[in-house]
Amino acid sequence: MNENILCVVYSRTGRTKRLMEDISAALDCELAEISDRVERQGTLGWLRCGMDAMRKRTRPINRLHTRRALADYDLVILGTPVWAGRCSSVMRAFLKRRGYELRDVAYVITHASEEPYRAVFEQMDKYLQTPHVEDVSLCPGSAGYIFWRDLFLKTVAGRMNVELRPIPEPEDEDGESGENGEAAASEPPETEQ
Ligand SMILES: Cc1cc2nc3c(=O)[nH]c(=O)nc-3n(C[C@H](O)[C@H](O)[C@H](O)COP(=O)(O)O)c2cc1C
Repeated sequence: MNENILCVVYSRTGRTKRLMEDISAALDCELAEISDRVERQGTLGWLRCGMDAMRKRTRPINRLHTRRALADYDLVILGTPVWAGRCSSVMRAFLKRRGYELRDVAYVITHASEEPYRAVFEQMDKYLQTPHVEDVSLCPGSAGYIFWRDLFLKTVAGRMNVELRPIPEPEDEDGESGENGEAAASEPPETEQ
């Protein structure tokens, strides 16, 4: 296992979590999940998320369990959904409280539209001691998704001098493996990052 890399994710409905599970599996590194004590499911929960994000409001988060102190990781990869054009307020709460402890940081954001939301990276940088070193902005299920995810992984692996592991293909309803990752990765993406 690559002890020097940590993935940290917040995910409300599982899309960012699935992506970060793939990223941590490919990099063979630890994955830790952020949570808070706020009801964020259902219509009211959705509204609460939107209001929190728009007001940049943060609430207490639960203790993050990691094998090492945050400052001991050479690279921390943060994964968050986009809420109202901003990073989720749960990730913002983590950055506010612990961002100063992080050394090199990379961002993975997911969103429903194909807009790249690059401004989110600048918002998140405000909580770090130094600007982030890598990023990727992904719309799960979109045409360029695998391409941009794999390009991000290659860049991070090169930077950290680690070998990438293959990402297991999701199974379809018949139990067959899905589309081959390499074939999908070679398709030209329609959207620019
Ligand atoms: C309150 C709220 C606001 C959102 N705002 C945006 C947005 O501004 N742009 C967008 O493309 N997607 C937006 N989304 C969709 C999520 O970013 C997207 O579905 C994401 O991949 C969900 O990740 P998760 O399953 O890890 O929670 C929003 C979702 C929520 C709950």
